Amino acid sequence: MAQNWTADSWRGFEGRHLPTYPNAEKLNGVEQTLTSFPPLVFAGEARALKADLAQVAAGKGFLLQGGDCAESFAEFHPNNIRDTFRVLLQMAVVLTFASKQPVVKVGRMAGQFAKPRSSPVETIDGVELPSYLGDNINGIDFTPESRIPDPERMLRAYSQAAATLNLLRAFSTGGYANLRQVHQWTLDHIGKSPWATKFSEMADKIGESLDFMEACGVDPRTVPQLQGTSFYTSHEALLLQYEEAMTRQDSLTGDWYDTSAHMLWIGDRTRFEGSAHVEYLRGVNNPIGMKCGPSLTPDALLKMLDTLNPAREAGRMTLISRFGDDKVVAGLAPLVRAVKREGHPVVWSCDPMHGNVIKANSGYKTRPFDRILNEVKGFFAVHRAEGTHAGGIHIEMTGQDVTECVGGAVAITHEGLADRYHTHCDPRLNAAQSIELAFLLAEALNAERAGTKAEAA
Ligand code: PEP
Ligand code: CO
Repeated sequence: MAQNWTADSWRGFEGRHLPTYPNAEKLNGVEQTLTSFPPLVFAGEARALKADLAQVAAGKGFLLQGGDCAESFAEFHPNNIRDTFRVLLQMAVVLTFASKQPVVKVGRMAGQFAKPRSSPVETIDGVELPSYLGDNINGIDFTPESRIPDPERMLRAYSQAAATLNLLRAFSTGGYANLRQVHQWTLDHIGKSPWATKFSEMADKIGESLDFMEACGVDPRTVPQLQGTSFYTSHEALLLQYEEAMTRQDSLTGDWYDTSAHMLWIGDRTRFEGSAHVEYLRGVNNPIGMKCGPSLTPDALLKMLDTLNPAREAGRMTLISRFGDDKVVAGLAPLVRAVKREGHPVVWSCDPMHGNVIKANSGYKTRPFDRILNEVKGFFAVHRAEGTHAGGIHIEMTGQDVTECVGGAVAITHEGLADRYHTHCDPRLNAAQSIELAFLLAEALNAERAGTKAEAA
């Protein structure tokens, strides 16, 4: 168990990107209420995810993590949850089929509300207001009242996370994720993409394989892995008041867990020495992610790993690199080398989103699909050169047919961004772009596998 740690010991450290609540009494009341609420996940599930991630760290699997940049109260709808879940399933099937390795599925869902912002204020037409910080903190409307942090938003976020998680559990084990349904998962609007045909061909092959296995006496109805799937949740553990209130001691092991999600990550802006966020996460036993951007030195990374994973437990740490397509090769290689040299077991995952944001002439923030792909390619190239496993992908995506990232096979143009630009924060890949990315990732994973086989021969 972590030394000198309590669920509230972060309060003695430097907490960046935390809101200041005007009414301390109201905040206190909400924290007490949350502390009395049921946990959203069970410690045993977090341990199961850790075991899955330990396999990925050992080179025997791939992590697929994705969902909204910021979930919102306004977009809370069963169809949105279903469509994002469905695209993640489709991507996972494409990746599994190509790599012949298990794919660990983790949603940026059921709790991804709080956002670190590049500026504490937003100015529109000469009017300056505090920035929007995520629906669990303040409102997106550009009015002074809406931008005041309101602790009661945490209760609404808890309830939305609980309902979302409930539906995700139902989908993953209740029959929706049955591999026999693989054809039915196709969304109408993906039909426009050339990758829809490829997906349909792959679905035919899976169907044939299932028929073959059934003929051999393997009955898919009695094989749980074919009927359902495991699906985990994650978010950035940014709003520490909420995370602290969701911290519980596991009755089986006596260990502490953040029961707001299976996996939590530390953002690029809160992973510094002396950080309150690092202090909080070092004491909970969930699998932890950490964003690694251009400002992170190999020494600082090794120090973080010693703090967050002193026992060097496999599956505990996922390092999520997010450099930008022009910086990934030079920036990532020294980090990978240092971690390999010190023998820390980690999952290396690629976030090709946060280093590739540009502002279009129209004023919209966007991400060019080509740059996203380039960063992924650079990530694979570094791991190939260093002899390490390119273990995962972390993306902002949605099952909806939005127009937020430019490019892709159904080319979204700069002029087209205004058509369906709905995100509450950063631009997301739409369903067709996500499937396209999965096929391109599958090619890269296949090449990695071919390389490993050739070395073994
Ligand atoms: C995010 O993942 O939404 C995010 C803010 O990323 P980063 O911390 O890498 O900037
Ligand atoms: Co984002």
